[in-house]
Amino acid sequence: MSNAAKTAKTVLITGATAGIGRETALHLAQAGYHVIATGRRAGELDKLRAEAPAGARLDTTLLDVTSADSIAAALVEVDRLTSGRGVDALVNNAGFGLIGPLTEISDADLRRQYETNVFGLMAVTRAFVPQMRERGNGRVVNVSSMGGKMTFPFMGAYNSTKYAIESMSDALRFELRPFGIHVVVIEPGAIHTNFAETSMAPVNQYEHTVYGPAIARAKTLEKRMMSTAVGPKVVARAIQKAISRRSPAARYVAPWFGNLVLAMMAVTPTRVLDAVIRRISFLTPKALRADQVRGQGIGSGAAASAPRDLLPRTPAIIASNVSSGTGLSRN
Ligand SMILES: NC(=O)c1ccc[n+]([C@@H]2O[C@H](COP(=O)([O-])OP(=O)(O)OC[C@H]3O[C@@H](n4cnc5c(N)ncnc54)[C@H](OP(=O)(O)O)[C@@H]3O)[C@@H](O)[C@H]2O)c1
Repeated sequence: MSNAAKTAKTVLITGATAGIGRETALHLAQAGYHVIATGRRAGELDKLRAEAPAGARLDTTLLDVTSADSIAAALVEVDRLTSGRGVDALVNNAGFGLIGPLTEISDADLRRQYETNVFGLMAVTRAFVPQMRERGNGRVVNVSSMGGKMTFPFMGAYNSTKYAIESMSDALRFELRPFGIHVVVIEPGAIHTNFAETSMAPVNQYEHTVYGPAIARAKTLEKRMMSTAVGPKVVARAIQKAISRRSPAARYVAPWFGNLVLAMMAVTPTRVLDAVIRRISFLTPKALRADQVRGQGIGSGAAASAPRDLLPRTPAIIASNVSSGTGLSRN
């Protein structure tokens, strides 16, 4: 077992049936940690266990972060697996993106987004922190997003949950540090997982709203952004840093060059950013009216009629944040 593994021996990961959570489970198991990978789908957890490196300790248990019963059952199972000691590190990773124009998203869908990304994260944290507090040490690692610092059009529902996680993590960092518990935020950029597909799937329902051309545009941008995405290993490594470093940073951006985007956004005036993003996203009166003017119906011909493509290659990373929930924001 590595030194890192000695610092945080048992790690529970939520949302480990796919993407970042799954990769992190395998990565940490390989590094010598006792991993408790959790998720909603028993079949995927079985497959994950079967993939664990030889000699690694990778246990699984069902855990739906939106269900109090499921969390309670997982707590009992974790007690059994750790002989009542609890976990050394909790990685709150489970989440999804709800994409669409904020005024068109139903209240029920918005609540569903918050139930998983915000209330689910807090419910799991409340369940597993008490044992850390009793022991006087532990780590809580919250997977936010670069989109927890910036907002893109149609990403408001998702981005706002990540903003909430950023703020709650700051409060938790103050409140848990006296008990030896470090709270760390992970801010991924565009990462190749199921995330983009899951998030983009429902957007077609908005094609026949006033936002039709911009929705068509968002789909194009999402494809372009995913062409710049990296694999989930980079996030798994950042999570390992968060749980193994003696004095971890409050935040890790993964991949690191996301820091450049965040820095650029921070110094760019809101007025300038807004103008660029509106044009890139076809959120100008002209672009939104383009189809009607051409008499072709909303949702078609937008690309031909909308403003010239302002998306340069270099800031493709910015565009790439559309699908990953990373956005551009201004204060
Ligand atoms: N990929 C990106 O570009 C990106 C960028 C920034 C931040 N993130 C964040 O990274 C985290 C992981 O996303 P990912 O990219 O790995 O996406 P993913 O491949 O879609 O994986 C999401 C995971 O969360 C799980 N999940 C969703 N709702 C759940 C619930 N109620 N209870 C338990 N598990 C639940 C999913 O379970 P099922 O398999 O059952 O659906 C799945 O295991 C999310 O918090 C996301 O916001 C991702």
